[in-house]
Order: sequence, then C-alpha cells, then structure tokens
Amino acid sequence: MSSPNAIALTVQQTARPAGFPAPDHFRFAESPVPEPLPGTALVENLYWSVDPYHREMMDGDFELNAPLEGRALGRVIESRDPALPEGEIVFHRAGWRTHSVVRPAETRRLPHYDGVPLSAYLSVLGGTGLTAYVGLTRIARLREGDDLFVSGAAGGVGTATGRFARLLGAGRLVGSAGSPAKVAYLKEHVGYDEAFDYHAGPVADLLAKAAPDGIDLFVDNVGGGQLGAAIGALRERGRVVRVGTVGQYNTPDAPPVLFNHADVVEKSLRIEGFLVRDYRDVQEELDAFAVPHLLSGRLALDETVVDGFERIVDAFLSMLRGGNTGKMIVRNASL
Ligand SMILES: NC(=O)c1ccc[n+]([C@@H]2O[C@H](COP(=O)([O-])OP(=O)(O)OC[C@H]3O[C@@H](n4cnc5c(N)ncnc54)[C@H](OP(=O)(O)O)[C@@H]3O)[C@@H](O)[C@H]2O)c1
Repeated sequence: MSSPNAIALTVQQTARPAGFPAPDHFRFAESPVPEPLPGTALVENLYWSVDPYHREMMDGDFELNAPLEGRALGRVIESRDPALPEGEIVFHRAGWRTHSVVRPAETRRLPHYDGVPLSAYLSVLGGTGLTAYVGLTRIARLREGDDLFVSGAAGGVGTATGRFARLLGAGRLVGSAGSPAKVAYLKEHVGYDEAFDYHAGPVADLLAKAAPDGIDLFVDNVGGGQLGAAIGALRERGRVVRVGTVGQYNTPDAPPVLFNHADVVEKSLRIEGFLVRDYRDVQEELDAFAVPHLLSGRLALDETVVDGFERIVDAFLSMLRGGNTGKMIVRNASL
C-alpha cells in the first residue's frame, strides 16, 4: 500500500509543436498517489516505452494539460480486484506516469519465463517485436532466402526485424541507420550483412553499393527518399512493408516521395502498410517463436535504457533524433 503522503508524477503536454518538440512542450505534474476504486488496482510503474507514434499523437490526439498515455510495465501495489493480485507485474497503456490505476481488462498479465528480462516485454516481446514479426510473416510473407533492405535498421523495430529475419531464414540483410556507430552495431551485433549511414550520400547510390544485385523485400520504418530508392532496387515480385514514416513526423512539409510508378507495374510489386494493433492475436505466436531463441541466446535484446522517470521526456526527444540503438526504454530508478 502506498504511503498517504506519497506523490505521483504525470507527464502532460502543454503545447502543440510545429516541427521537432522540445522540453517546454511538456511538464511534470505532481498529485497524491491515486486510490484504487473497487474493480481497479494501483500499479507502480517500472518500465516505460517512448515511441515515435507519441510524436504523431502530439499533433492532436494527446489532450493538452492532461496526463499522457503510453505503454508501461508495473507492479500492482494495491488491489481492489482479485484478478489483479498485489505483487503481479502487468503490461498496460496508462504510462507516462509513476502510478496508474488500471482495470483488469486494460492490462495484460505477463507470462513468466525464467531468464527473460522484464524490459523484453516492451522491446522484442512487446509492440516493437510484434510489429517486426507481423511485418515479416504477415505482410511481407517472408520466404527463405529473400534478400532484405530495412530502413531505420538500428531502432527498436529495425533491430528486431533484422534478428527475426535471420532466424526465419532470410538471405542477405542490408540496413540503413543514422550514424557510423549504428552501422557498425548492425553488422557486428545484429547480423546485418551490410549497412550504411543514410547521411553519407544519395540513398539510391548507397543502396546500389550495399545491394548491387537488388532486393526482394523492403521493410520501411522511415519513408521519404529511402522508400523511393528501395522501390528502384526491388526485383520482380518485390514487396514493400510500410511500417512507419519516422523521417517525416517532425517535417510535415516534406516533399512527397518520388519514385518511378511504372516500376510497381513492370516489376509486379506489392506495397502494403499495417497497424500492429490489428494483429494482437499474433502475440502468442511471437512468444512461441521468440522466447526459445531468447533463452538459448540466439536472440539478444537491443535496448537503450534510460534510468529515472524524470528523464522520460528527454528519452523521448532523444529517440526522435536517433539517440537510441534498439528500443528506447525508461526504467524506474529504484530498480
Ligand atoms: N505500423 C505500426 O503499427 C508500427 C508500430 C510500431 C512502430 N511503427 C513505426 O516504426 C518505425 C520505427 O519505430 P521504433 O519504435 O522502432 O522507433 P526507433 O526506430 O527505435 O526510433 C526512431 C528512430 O528513427 C530514426 N530517425 C529519426 N529521424 C529520422 C530521419 N529523418 N530519417 C531516418 N531515420 C530517422 C532514428 O534513428 P537514426 O539514428 O537511424 O536516424 C531513431 O532512432 C516508426 O516509423 C514507427 O512509427 C509502426
């Protein structure tokens, strides 16, 4: 049970940004730790996810001067519902705050796998991993030996995509990322055969050099010029999995993507986007696939962990500018 004088913190958005958000678009608000009503439980949050989609929500979906929401993991510390026993660790979406009051239907009780760290439930076993897995298995319908190009390859979805593609029997893996250090990480740790820094020249040239024989599949986390270049590099019956457009969330006036539209017909291409929230039923399949690989060590976690809830805004802003390698996660400093 929380102490009567305990203080809870929430993060609130105070203004709509034009372009990149800054710390002064947010404030931390103090309030007493909330009391759970019957049918709910009080959760002390332990890990928080900060995501590119939060930037999209800042343009209108996040209410101003109200607590923000996001994915989080926490421990039930006071329960008024038997379905949420005290001590249980749960996943929920009422994040960006130190304490959340949740109903059982709003939570997912996490399975316990000895040897799987909690943070994995926000990275490779969370929405990030599910996005990568759905992109490869449901949208791309990956075939053994397919050669891939992944943009945003050093981020959460990008690293999971590379590692899963390797385990699923993909052919050559090429990735792009925003710095030489990330390029090295992709090749040395994640299993990419080739990688390039997309700042290093025209992307079409960089991709032609990295994938001289073309690609079967493009997993696109970024959009913009990388999408245009990849369409040019796709082989016949190539597929584009449109995962996200993080390259444009802070530049709404970016020019439209240029590519040869005839390529789509002449190479019989398929370009398909998806939202992971429509594929929650694939979660069990992801766990069955990924957990044994995590336990055997064939699958490692790619995470940048920032300690302290008071740094959650900094972590979010840093992620938007590429400050993360792997999934950006914020951890309760008491852990
Ligand atoms: N469809 C879905 O349901 C779904 C679900 C989850 C995520 N997504 C999307 O998947 C993408 C990746 O998400 P994530 O959570 O894994 O985030 P992330 O890739 O871990 O983090 C964002 C990354 O974006 C890159 N970036 C920022 N500005 C860029 C620019 N102008 N050009 C190229 N790269 C840029 C940065 O890496 P660099 O250092 O490499 O620039 C940064 O690390 C996002 O587009 C997100 O919206 C979609």
